[in-house]
Amino acid sequence: MTTKILLAEADMPTHWYNIVADLSAPPPPVLHPGTHEPVGPDDLAPLFPMDLILQEVATDRFIEIPEEIREVYRMWRPSPLHRAHGLEKLIGGPARIYYKYEGVSPVGSHKPNTAVAQAFYNAKAGVEKLSTETGAGQWGSALAFACSLFGLDCEVYMVRASYDQKPYRKALIETFGATIHPSPSSNTEYGRKMLETDPDTPGSLGIAISEAVEVAATNEEVKYSLGSVLNHVLMHQTIIGEEALKQLALVEETPDVVIGCAGGGSNFAGLAFPFVREKMAGSMDPVIRAVEPAAAPSLTRGSYQFDFGDTGQMTPLVKMHTLGHPFVPAPIHAGGLRYHGMAPLVSYLKEEGLIEATSLHQTETFARAVEFARVEGIVPGPEPTHAVAEAMSEAEKAKEAGEEKVILFNLSGHGHFDMAAYQAYFAGELEDYAHPQDEIDAAMAQVPAVAG
Ligand SMILES: Cc1ncc(COP(=O)(O)O)c(C=O)c1O
Repeated sequence: MTTKILLAEADMPTHWYNIVADLSAPPPPVLHPGTHEPVGPDDLAPLFPMDLILQEVATDRFIEIPEEIREVYRMWRPSPLHRAHGLEKLIGGPARIYYKYEGVSPVGSHKPNTAVAQAFYNAKAGVEKLSTETGAGQWGSALAFACSLFGLDCEVYMVRASYDQKPYRKALIETFGATIHPSPSSNTEYGRKMLETDPDTPGSLGIAISEAVEVAATNEEVKYSLGSVLNHVLMHQTIIGEEALKQLALVEETPDVVIGCAGGGSNFAGLAFPFVREKMAGSMDPVIRAVEPAAAPSLTRGSYQFDFGDTGQMTPLVKMHTLGHPFVPAPIHAGGLRYHGMAPLVSYLKEEGLIEATSLHQTETFARAVEFARVEGIVPGPEPTHAVAEAMSEAEKAKEAGEEKVILFNLSGHGHFDMAAYQAYFAGELEDYAHPQDEIDAAMAQVPAVAG
């Protein structure tokens, strides 16, 4: 009975997959925040190096991973695909459960898959420093690590709620050589404005993005780096799904259900997009499902329309499922899922009916994660507890129906820096929040009406 399905380093995929090449129509354009006209590569140049801008708008199906990036990936990639024997025994049903484990990376999550690529292309373009935001701290530590490898300075704006909950993530970010500020901070004009309005705000990813973008937009030697949402970020993550396809082929399995948690959509897309490609090609027909928190339910309760990527209206407008850019979600422990929007490509696939979405409450996801940890030996990060919970429910449903389903999910990171969340769970202090409809309506009322 194999538990870890492993690929040799030589079998690591050599290309990222760009799903845009396989869509029936080009995805909606990205619009300028001021004029609401489609932006061209030059409009994005103050924020990103040209190689990444070209990847953002690329239409090639596959893009080769430069050897310098593959060399770094080999520190932890290919990542293992685990057969969840312990979980299968616990549930006692006919389902076969597999999970791709991204917690083996140096910072404990999938985030370095794109951080390393982004740092590489920025260094190649002669950029000196990157600014970014971080929710859970996973992205901040990934970019700090990647910048240290390629000789770049790095400045991280960490959502206040997570900054307070996760002191060791902050220490990790500093260990890799980056500077870190709680967001909102008094460092930026936008941060100062937010602090004046509400000095006790827990912050949000939308606010932290505005601060990091402001730093890049007002300093020539600084560029901005985003850990999710954008097309090129999702594409860098597809190495996860490309590896998983190869690994499942080794054990002659085809998934019936593919599951990932979704904050901005990058780990979900990373696992799912290669399977969406196979589904579109007719070689398999899995249900592909994103799982989000009930406290930030963009895919399940948001509107599909153009909105800003940040609270301060500095980023371009993208068409996505959104709860409204002014939305400040409740301080749930899955900090990386507290975002008002969703990746445009994930949103588009949901509209096309190629993927589906559901939402869960955190007390349920932590209860499931504890069960998982006790039989599989891995403590999931708060974000992937949502994927764990959904996979376990699917396996239970398969048991009730007597169906031999093959379930694949992404365990996007471990929770070793998130033990305060588990402590709160055991102390009975975790609260569930369903985001109130009147707050969604109020935030959506501030979204500009843009046709399309
Ligand atoms: C371990 C982990 N999983 C998932 C997420 C959610 O982000 P995304 O939806 O881009 O994968 C985060 C974000 O910080 C994370 O740290």
